[in-house]
Amino acid sequence: MQPGEQLPDKVMARRSFEAAAESYDQAAVLQQEIGARLLQRLDIMKIQPQRILDLGAGTGGCIPGLYSRYKKAGVVALDIALPMLRHARRRGRWLRRPQCVCADAERLPFADNSFDLVISNLMLQWCLDTASLFAELQRVMRPGGLLLFTSFGPDTLHELRDSWRQVDDYSHVNAFQDMHDVGDALLRARFADPVMDVERLTLTYPDVWQLMRELKQIGAHNVTGGRPRGLTGKTHIQRLVEAYEKYRRDGVLPASYEIVNGHAWASSQECSVSLEDIGRR
Ligand SMILES: C[S@@+](CC[C@H](N)C(=O)[O-])C[C@H]1O[C@@H](n2cnc3c(N)ncnc32)[C@H](O)[C@@H]1O
Repeated sequence: MQPGEQLPDKVMARRSFEAAAESYDQAAVLQQEIGARLLQRLDIMKIQPQRILDLGAGTGGCIPGLYSRYKKAGVVALDIALPMLRHARRRGRWLRRPQCVCADAERLPFADNSFDLVISNLMLQWCLDTASLFAELQRVMRPGGLLLFTSFGPDTLHELRDSWRQVDDYSHVNAFQDMHDVGDALLRARFADPVMDVERLTLTYPDVWQLMRELKQIGAHNVTGGRPRGLTGKTHIQRLVEAYEKYRRDGVLPASYEIVNGHAWASSQECSVSLEDIGRR
């Protein structure tokens, strides 16, 4: 497989999230849990943001938690999939509704120095170039602003990836970036004091079908460039089911998630930090 074939096809990703907007909230139990943990991390930060960006806001699950923490702040919800934002705009009450912007996170339609807090729950892994995404965030963030995010790491869905590998040579599961590479990209974009860590969660399913159905309902399709084109035949699926069975324990099939948590501060001027620094943190 060529290196570019691991990258997400952005048009496919957008279509897939558009199609999932109605089923997302019901199926996104893991995403909601990770979003709640991300918001809790705000409680130890001494900040009083005025303008907040929720990047890849989806249906806006994190927005009520932002309003309740920051009573005077305005929230902008940005997402590439318009139907997701139709749900997000109903979050909050009265005049405290988010401003919704349908755009690509890698090309932000905002002026320089627009936000003093940016949160992003499980969106980064859909972007093609984390370094340029962070550079764009550095531009729209006010000096001293906080960037807080989650993403998936390479071990995510490793059982599904390995099982497909026994069936054919196509890429069937999206590829995820390592925590250290994300940290390096933050430093290259001149974010200060990056802190990264990883948590692991395992969900269980009665069968592979249930797992694949759930991924579809949240829009997390395989959108890598190296995905098979056309329908996957019955024999292939049957072989996948058999390959995944070797992971069955106590009557259920596990699906592992590696959750990458990160935060960093927008800087005002050029600063140079050694890449080794992040390893020592
Ligand atoms: C897994 S969902 C997470 C949604 C929300 N943050 C949450 O906590 O439920 C990922 C979201 O990122 C959006 N997304 C993916 N790629 C994007 C991009 N390049 N720019 C903006 N949004 C993007 C998708 O449309 C989707 O709504």
